[in-house]
Amino acid sequence: MQHSALINVMVKAALRAGRSLKRDLGEIEHLQVSLKGPANFVSLADKRAEEMLYTDLLKARPGYGFLGEEGGTREGTDKTHTWIVDPLDGTTNFLHGIPQFAISIGLKREDTIIAGVIYNPANDELYIAERGKGAFLNDQRLRVAGRRQLNECVIGCGLPHIGRGDHALFRAEMEAIQTKVAGLRRFGAASLDLAFVAAGRLDGFWERDLSPWDIAAGQILIREAGGTISGLDGHDDTLATGHLVCGNEYVHRELLKLLKAAAK
Ligand code: IPD
Ligand code: CA
Ligand code: CA
Repeated sequence: MQHSALINVMVKAALRAGRSLKRDLGEIEHLQVSLKGPANFVSLADKRAEEMLYTDLLKARPGYGFLGEEGGTREGTDKTHTWIVDPLDGTTNFLHGIPQFAISIGLKREDTIIAGVIYNPANDELYIAERGKGAFLNDQRLRVAGRRQLNECVIGCGLPHIGRGDHALFRAEMEAIQTKVAGLRRFGAASLDLAFVAAGRLDGFWERDLSPWDIAAGQILIREAGGTISGLDGHDDTLATGHLVCGNEYVHRELLKLLKAAAK
């Protein structure tokens, strides 16, 4: 499968940083007994991966801006392009040796995400999307699932944990949805949750209070796989608000209805 030069740059950067994360994952179990503990180690792994991504992406596209979870905004001379990067999405999973985590790289031109790459080094799954060119998992073309009945659907969600989000609101949303669907899942890495929707593994997904680096690459994957993604009011900018719901157009519409009613 031939991809564009842009996608090749993103993939190369993701694979290199992915090798570093995979090495670090192998160390984690030894660190359970170390003095500083694994959390400190993981935050170093995270920062190291982000610096690798910054170096590789900026070398290939000098001047582009860079927004990373660890280092924040680094302005470029080219104000129209910004990389939006989560060097390690699914930190809690990584820390616990659960192989559901990823590097997520999105590229924004003006106000539109034009390319996305999500890579899980633990199982070597590489998701790619470029505007107008489709979405792929390891070179296989992706399409969102076609189910139209919620009672046949498996829906993913994000679950606010200690010190984060509105727990009562989440419980109301979950109650509204769990009574209508075949299964609910919480996998713990938002970028991969979105990639799973693009791949038709999950029929839909919703989460609140995400950050742009959790969403940028996944959003274009879903759209290029024929899916619908929006904010929780149906049309707001998910990157700006951090709240989102997605699926095929039917599942998206049904979930949105239930979520709006639950939030009243
Ligand atoms: C988190 C994961 C998780 C989501 C959280 C995110 P991190 O990202 O994507 O699934 O529920 O809201 O912050 O902290 O592991 O990069
Ligand atoms: Ca994240
Ligand atoms: Ca992260």
